[in-house]
Amino acid sequence: MAKDLSFICTACNAVHSKWSGQCDACGAWNTIEEAKPLSSGPKSKGLGTKRGRALDLTDLATEQPEPPRTLAGVDELDRVLGGGLVKASALLVGGDPGIGKSTLLLQAAARFARNGLKVLYVSGEESAAQVQMRARRLELTESPVRLASETNLRDILTTLDAEAPDLVIIDSIQTMWLDTVEAAPGSVSQVRSAAHELTTFAKRRGIAVVMVGHVTKEGQIAGPRVVEHMVDTVLYFEGERGHQFRILRAVKNRFGPADEIGVFEMTGRGLVEVKNPSALFLSERGEPAPGSVVFAGIEGSRPMLCEFQALVAPSPHSQPRRTVVGWDGGRLAMILAVLESRAGIPFTGLDVYLNVAGGLRVGEPAADLAVAAALISAREDAALPKDCVVFGEISLSGALRPVGQTENRLKEAAKLGFRTAVTPVRAKRVGSGGVELREMRDLPEFVEEVFGA
Ligand code: TYD
Ligand code: MG
Repeated sequence: MAKDLSFICTACNAVHSKWSGQCDACGAWNTIEEAKPLSSGPKSKGLGTKRGRALDLTDLATEQPEPPRTLAGVDELDRVLGGGLVKASALLVGGDPGIGKSTLLLQAAARFARNGLKVLYVSGEESAAQVQMRARRLELTESPVRLASETNLRDILTTLDAEAPDLVIIDSIQTMWLDTVEAAPGSVSQVRSAAHELTTFAKRRGIAVVMVGHVTKEGQIAGPRVVEHMVDTVLYFEGERGHQFRILRAVKNRFGPADEIGVFEMTGRGLVEVKNPSALFLSERGEPAPGSVVFAGIEGSRPMLCEFQALVAPSPHSQPRRTVVGWDGGRLAMILAVLESRAGIPFTGLDVYLNVAGGLRVGEPAADLAVAAALISAREDAALPKDCVVFGEISLSGALRPVGQTENRLKEAAKLGFRTAVTPVRAKRVGSGGVELREMRDLPEFVEEVFGA
């Protein structure tokens, strides 16, 4: 039998044989906790008594039909779920505290309840009266959602047994505790055991279970990370403070594509789906300004246009500033280095600020060329034409690499009134939806063509 794991880092999940103040793996302090084994049944040696069974791979395909699904009737949510909620599946919805997880799930609960599912919403953070008040504010009081305010998991399982719902929402998994586990609620052992009990119970009864988990950007708060391995689907609810829009992103999904996103706007009456996010992210764009470039991006399966803004100014510091919001700082450093060594455009002695407008977070390397364009445009104080979008990856040699889904990007640009696209050269012709393509081979060519330098 494998040795029981004894200590686990709540930040990075590394397993340690003894306790220490700092985790060797991730360097975090005070994050190591004792991890209890999930079940402590009698130890046995040798083989099990149950007869093993194996199937042919081909048999499995015919034995398992498409799992039954229920639609919420909200496209932005159903798409992220991979086409609706699967019966007897386990989901984790993670996100920063206060981002809107409870709001989202209460609204989703109401939708599923109206579409025929028996839904139980268990709040461990708010009293039943508080949840009812929220439901009133969201105008959901007509929806037949059952409600419980409870943190003791045994009691919750008893309620589940009595109510026999099709869907249970646990808000949040960090507040749940089991009397058999000697650790505080929210600790890794409690979260892990509670999630394990819940998912096994739910799967056995054919109930779909959605667990809410608070996570900080650094993943510092104990718990949800260990739950990710136990569930079928992991969704993250993201957004920037001070901005109204929120993104629900599938980071793992056994029943649909990962990386799919749904876009919502937080309003006074809860979350409203955003059917045309490109228009939202470009809505504040005025006349063409130096440093502003529109990037034709892809998030999951959908094209999404957004604006990169750069500001470049002489630095009073010996170590010039590099500040980036909404994109990867390491990647910015790389683009700056490539611009300097391959296109002869240095940024030494200059502070560089890069921002994605609207608070969106872009992860695609396809944004390289848009970032480069924004940086050069800011440095040279030369604006790009108003009706132009940019996308493409930049390699360390300064060559431009074509990116996937060019056709989708161009179609979206055309839909929003853009007339030209600056892109890497492609071997294969694609439909451009009426957008004029300006194809470039490498950075020097790009600089000369676009900025005439
Ligand atoms: P909440 O769903 O409680 O966040 P979480 O469960 O992720 O901690 O949402 C909290 C924020 O949402 C709070 O700051 C108020 C805001 N909000 C609205 O703007 N409109 C609404 O209709 C509701 C219910 C909340
Ligand atoms: Mg909440």
